[in-house]
Amino acid sequence: MLEEFVGAIETHLEGVLPSKSEHSKELVEGMRYAVLNGGKRLRGSLVCATSYTLSGCYTSALDSACAIECLHAYSLVHDDLPVMDDADLRRGKPSCHKVFGPAMATLVGDALQPLAFNLIADCDTIPGDKRLEITKVLSRAAGWKGMVGGQAWDIQLTPDDTLSVEELRRLHAAKTGEFFVAAVDIGRIIGDERLDAQVSTGLHRFGVNLGEAFQVVDDVLDCSQSSDITGKPIGQDSRLGKQTFPVLLGIDAATAYAHELLEKALGELVELGFSDSVLADVAKRCVDRIS
Ligand code: IPE
Ligand code: IPE
Ligand code: MG
Ligand code: MG
Ligand code: MG
Repeated sequence: MLEEFVGAIETHLEGVLPSKSEHSKELVEGMRYAVLNGGKRLRGSLVCATSYTLSGCYTSALDSACAIECLHAYSLVHDDLPVMDDADLRRGKPSCHKVFGPAMATLVGDALQPLAFNLIADCDTIPGDKRLEITKVLSRAAGWKGMVGGQAWDIQLTPDDTLSVEELRRLHAAKTGEFFVAAVDIGRIIGDERLDAQVSTGLHRFGVNLGEAFQVVDDVLDCSQSSDITGKPIGQDSRLGKQTFPVLLGIDAATAYAHELLEKALGELVELGFSDSVLADVAKRCVDRIS
């Protein structure tokens, strides 16, 4: 099922991304390059998996799945810019700014944001009140309280700043976790007709634990795997003096911590009776890269 979601998201992304422009061919090519270049589609899959688990259907979740993938791709393009992490490799290929230049890559990221919100506004298979709710969830997760807020905190830290485990958890929750939580919340908004408070709270907690686990895994991979595996420059966090879980706890303890968070996330699914669902498969895929 997970492979089916990924395939459906890829096909849908192909269709929703622009293919020509009266103004700038490079902008449109850059947008397609940034999005259609082999991401794992975990956030989009979480939207589909949550909707499918609750309703047995995921087709009306595809626009929202693509919207979150566009926002995520924009966050990666900007994260890699020379003024941020200055990373030359993304998804195993030259980063967007290496191909299109930093100014155009900035605009590529800028253009992907309204495209994402437009997809939701135009999605007429979902009622208007749900579209509004999804917009609220996604704009909050992407904005100053979410991903951008976390990224701002991240770039302001100097190698001399020492974060506590609790502070690092909050930083990760903002820059990375919020998109995971939003993906699950959006899938629930689309798929849950019963508006069950227990389901909503349990799935939200599932997303929180999974989002944190995902960033811990990303940090462990950064210092333990080759570029062939991650598709990114290796050791960027130490080059940039980033505070990470492997720095604070060591690689083994950070790996164990990621597994602990995965177990917590899976425990929420057990409570809801979703232990054998495709949601559990997506969760395991987020963490099994370090198993
Ligand atoms: C990378 O996310 C950015 C982080 C939040 C750590 P992914 O590893 O999900 O990136 P893609 O989409 O699969 O390339
Ligand atoms: C960035 O975290 C998370 C984003 C919001 C893009 P990282 O800087 O660790 O992501 P990677 O390792 O470059 O993918
Ligand atoms: Mg970064
Ligand atoms: Mg980075
Ligand atoms: Mg990283």
